[in-house]
Amino acid sequence: MSVILAIESSCDDTSVAICNNGKITANVIANQTIHQNYGGVIPELASRVHQQNIVPAVQQALINAKVTKQDINAVAFTRGPGLLGSLLVGVSFAKSFALALNVPLISVNHMHAHILAHFIDDPKPSFPFLCLTVSGGHTQIVLVKDYFDMEIVGETLDDAAGEAFDKTAKLLALPYPGGPLVDKHAQHGNPLAFKFAEPQIADLNFSFSGFKTSILYFVRKQEKENPDFITENLDDICASVQYSIVQILLNKLKKAAKQFGIKEIAIAGGVSANSGLRNGLQQAADELGWNIYIPAFQYCTDNAGMIAIAGYHKFLKKDFVGQNVSPMARMEF
Ligand code: KG4
Ligand code: ZN
Repeated sequence: MSVILAIESSCDDTSVAICNNGKITANVIANQTIHQNYGGVIPELASRVHQQNIVPAVQQALINAKVTKQDINAVAFTRGPGLLGSLLVGVSFAKSFALALNVPLISVNHMHAHILAHFIDDPKPSFPFLCLTVSGGHTQIVLVKDYFDMEIVGETLDDAAGEAFDKTAKLLALPYPGGPLVDKHAQHGNPLAFKFAEPQIADLNFSFSGFKTSILYFVRKQEKENPDFITENLDDICASVQYSIVQILLNKLKKAAKQFGIKEIAIAGGVSANSGLRNGLQQAADELGWNIYIPAFQYCTDNAGMIAIAGYHKFLKKDFVGQNVSPMARMEF
């Protein structure tokens, strides 16, 4: 029997989940809206809001999962990567809670957890599989050999795919976080209206920095000729940018699948919520005979459910950490 309480506070979402014998029975996510005023996450504000949110989120998770504090057998937390001040709130709370309840502590790598979100619901991928992990801070192709035996076989050399979405949105005067809004507008636009060059990067790596700049120059040039270019073409710009990002991601994923001879293919992280990526992945699966795995929407963006399932698999191995554990320092991924 195991009841694991998990805490995720690596960026701007305070999330608390409960895993009861391998099943996620609560996944409370308190979003921080304050950052919308600034067009991006302000680390100092994020950690302050985590402090306000964390106790109510824990209380709500216990209610949703119909368990009490006394039922908890371990406390799992995100150790990193993430914003240090934000991580500190989660780590400090987890340590105090585990100490007070006299239960073990489990440290979880945020990027591992995004991948292990695939083990929350059925169908679950079988090992080995390839996972394209695309978030606001990371873009990686990971060869997943076992729950905690993972190898990064390709990654971005500069910006992440989520950043490319968010920066495009900012350029188009859409509020933060812009990724979901670009997705929304893209659904009404023509993906082939404007063409953006695909970066030529070796191996299975990515680069989005030059791509991002090319969008900036393109929009500025068009605006010189027509000051209303953005408002008149918003849906088409979003659809074209989204299409290009998705092509960049899928082309590398196809290359990796061929190179490793693997047809078990997963996507994870915030950008896996993107409708263009989901549709493109389905098309690739139909063409290439892949079995594809996409987490439920609530487990794509940052959430403690994924920390709880990772914590559960560590609990089974009795992989615990001591009270002296530091946030983030020298993590394996
Ligand atoms: O995994 P996540 O919640 O946080 C990080 O660990 O970074 O990912 C957040 C990123 C943001 O860049 C956000 O704009 C992007 O995921 N995102 C999307 C969509 N939903 C979230 N990007 C494109 N389309 C979406 N539907
Ligand atoms: Zn994340």
